[in-house]
Amino acid sequence: MADIILGIESSCDDTSAAVIRDGWLMSNVIASQDVHKAYGGVVPELASRAHELNIVPVVSEALSRAGVAASDLTAIAFTRGPGLLGSLLVGTSFAKALGLSLGIPIVMVNHLQGHILADFIKEPGVEVRQPSFPYLCLLVSGGNSQIVRVDSPLEYTILGQTIDDAVGEAFDKCSKMMGLGYPGGPVIDRLAKQGDPSRFKFAMPRVPGLDYSFSGIKTSLLYFVRDRMAEDPSFMDNNKEDICASFQKALIDILMDKLVKAARQTGIRDVTMGGGVSANSGLRERLAAEGRKRGWNVFIPPFKFTTDNAAMIAIAGYYHYLAGERAPLDIAPVSRMADF
Ligand code: KG4
Repeated sequence: MADIILGIESSCDDTSAAVIRDGWLMSNVIASQDVHKAYGGVVPELASRAHELNIVPVVSEALSRAGVAASDLTAIAFTRGPGLLGSLLVGTSFAKALGLSLGIPIVMVNHLQGHILADFIKEPGVEVRQPSFPYLCLLVSGGNSQIVRVDSPLEYTILGQTIDDAVGEAFDKCSKMMGLGYPGGPVIDRLAKQGDPSRFKFAMPRVPGLDYSFSGIKTSLLYFVRDRMAEDPSFMDNNKEDICASFQKALIDILMDKLVKAARQTGIRDVTMGGGVSANSGLRERLAAEGRKRGWNVFIPPFKFTTDNAAMIAIAGYYHYLAGERAPLDIAPVSRMADF
């Protein structure tokens, strides 16, 4: 009999449900929350309320698009953390209630693990291309910047990580500083395409080993903009494309420098990336180019699996399910999760 897993993701501001059947994606439904745009960032209280409104219709739509009934499900995978607690509570409680009512197990998933395993989502009619173990994953999102060594679907070692801000925060704060809106990553990505990446230089971090730091470069941008604006109030308006292109290039240089070191130190040649920032077109091009130059096998997830989605939770949950893992009904979500 087929294993049919329903995945539920509600860690931040996207309510998502997906169905996979024996590892193949049957549906992936995402309801994004536009309500936060007016506030320049995610408002946790509003996010929880929107999840509460969206969760039932989103799950129903995912089941219907997959052509399965709730009674066909084998297990339910849900994001336990990390994320916003109020948001996580909605998905976790829903998974427990549905699991209990159907008499099927629930399986907890670390959201970050979902991003790491995005390359393992198999879609009918799409060529299957997956990294071999062990591989390196550059995990870059609004809350994390890590280089992870992946030895199997359930075995990970963090080789390096940010000691302060995440790279997504640097994109978002830069955008806010420049009055470009939220979320910042996509806006900067778009403007950077029209700018000159070599025009401006920013102070680069000096962090030992494979760790990252993004708070200094953010401050460097702040002072740069403040000083130039003092000389010429229209500086920002006249140069925003070049500022975005130069700032984005600096962030990509920082990310790639440590990734290249990690590949050299470990001798690993299969390299992937995941998380919201992996949607960045400059970063995607650069990783592909580094791969060609260095003889890496590079795997870049499709755009739709870079930002938060339940397909990645369902596939990660599938591996946990196959390993015999089950979550107890008194499981509670957590805003931070140290381990995978
Ligand atoms: O993984 P994600 O959807 O949420 C978590 O943080 O878990 O990542 C969100 C982050 C935000 O910081 C957003 O600005 C960034 O991903 N992002 C991008 C792009 N699209 C989203 N950053 C750079 N370029 C993009 N195209």
